[in-house]
Amino acid sequence: MKAPSVKELLSTNATSQEVVINGWVKTFRSNRFIALNDGSTIHNIQCVVDFENFDEQLLKQVNTGSALKVTGNLIPSQGRGQSVEIQVKEIFVHGDADPEVYPIQPKKHSMEFLREQAHLRIRTNTFAAIMRVRSALSFAIHQYFQQNGFHYFHAPIVTGSDAEGAGETFRVTTLDATKPPLTEEGDVNYKEDFFGKETNLTVSGQLEAEAYAMALGKVYTFGPTFRAENSNTTRHLAEFWMIEPEVAFNDLNDNMDLAEDFMQNVIKYALENCVDDLAFLEKRLLEEEKTKPQAERSEMALIEKLKFVSSNTFKRVSYTEAFEILRNSKPNKKKKFKYPINEWGADLQSEHERFLVEKHFKCPVILFDYPAKIKAFYMRLNEDGKTVRAMDILFPGIGEIVGGSQREERLDVLKEKMKVLGIPEEELWWYLDLRKFGTAEHSGFGLGFERLVLFATGMGNIRDVIPFPRTPQNAEF
Ligand code: 4AD
Ligand code: MG
Repeated sequence: MKAPSVKELLSTNATSQEVVINGWVKTFRSNRFIALNDGSTIHNIQCVVDFENFDEQLLKQVNTGSALKVTGNLIPSQGRGQSVEIQVKEIFVHGDADPEVYPIQPKKHSMEFLREQAHLRIRTNTFAAIMRVRSALSFAIHQYFQQNGFHYFHAPIVTGSDAEGAGETFRVTTLDATKPPLTEEGDVNYKEDFFGKETNLTVSGQLEAEAYAMALGKVYTFGPTFRAENSNTTRHLAEFWMIEPEVAFNDLNDNMDLAEDFMQNVIKYALENCVDDLAFLEKRLLEEEKTKPQAERSEMALIEKLKFVSSNTFKRVSYTEAFEILRNSKPNKKKKFKYPINEWGADLQSEHERFLVEKHFKCPVILFDYPAKIKAFYMRLNEDGKTVRAMDILFPGIGEIVGGSQREERLDVLKEKMKVLGIPEEELWWYLDLRKFGTAEHSGFGLGFERLVLFATGMGNIRDVIPFPRTPQNAEF
């Protein structure tokens, strides 16, 4: 007999039948009630044991974490909180979990402790809920693009370019670190390296996606990206997943429309398809917030916040307008910002982004037309000669969640920009080719997937929304 999932059993009303179910013990109360879970849902199925009918040694193996196969009758539940339960006839212990040493006990564990147990933390309700939401969001992303005529494009992971030009790349090499081959000038001779040139893990699939958009029209990537920025924050990972759509013939306004519609759609998908997990995470968050001072508590509960963001238009504001708002803001005048806003052209820090979103506009904000100096080389230069067609989406509690732009499609302007920034043409000859042959307006953006999961689950630290986080000094598991 194929064993059904807990989720299937809990939604059936076909009682008085014999069922077999596999799962892990969440709790075993009063030598009578086993709460069994198999990962299919946040809810457990209650298995009721008449201990007189069972071997004492066997029941001793029924502990939190033990894997069981339970056979019994599915009956309408006597207790509250569930519609059905299993009257147990037989228990087979696949494997037990000694309570003396098994780290995940039915009590509150700190997030820090659980991070050290990343291989087991998924057995807690919180992490199981987060990872189911993560899975649903991935599906929603593919579904959105596939239903809207986009082609899924696989960008390479090993590249020779640093698309963002920030220099924060991980080198990929097979050279011996202790005695690499040297050139006559005494530099490392990458010609002798595996790829015959210097290579690194990609920081973004954008440049390659542009090549594909210039033939397939609408493409998107969804893959891992890597950044060696040494920022130990609750928003940064060294390995994270990014979604990057790229669309031929789209200008910046089209790009903002796409990004907004896309973000709202995937959040709606989670609201409709992750009802139980979101309800659980909302409750968890409310409890966590009770321990915080009033001023730090969020104004909306999780589900309300998700509904708000998925149904209200994002506020679109130019960098220059945002700059004026920030310059004249109370925290700036009272010198409360760590980075004061005085001169036009200043890069916005997360404290500024969050002020705009959380205090000033109180809704998601799309900032556009940033100073050229603080943005990447490939963004399209505006008529004013000093701003570029960039856009960042800022979310409450997160700050920047999306970064994108209209790309510079004019060969001469792009070449000039690269010259100024010292980017050799030989390195990006193929990228320049896209401007030589059939060039056209095009735009795209990148969504940091973990920042989306962070927002959707209401979690506070990005390390808790990716299965095995990679951060400075940490690549265990
Ligand atoms: O703003 P970024 O650097 O933009 C790009 O990489 C463009 N090439 C995207 C494009 O236009 N196709 O990164 C995009 C998003 C950020 O808005 C943020 O959400 C996320 O990626 N991100 C990170 N997420 C986690 N950890 C990090 N270290 C991140 N760096 C960026
Ligand atoms: Mg950015």
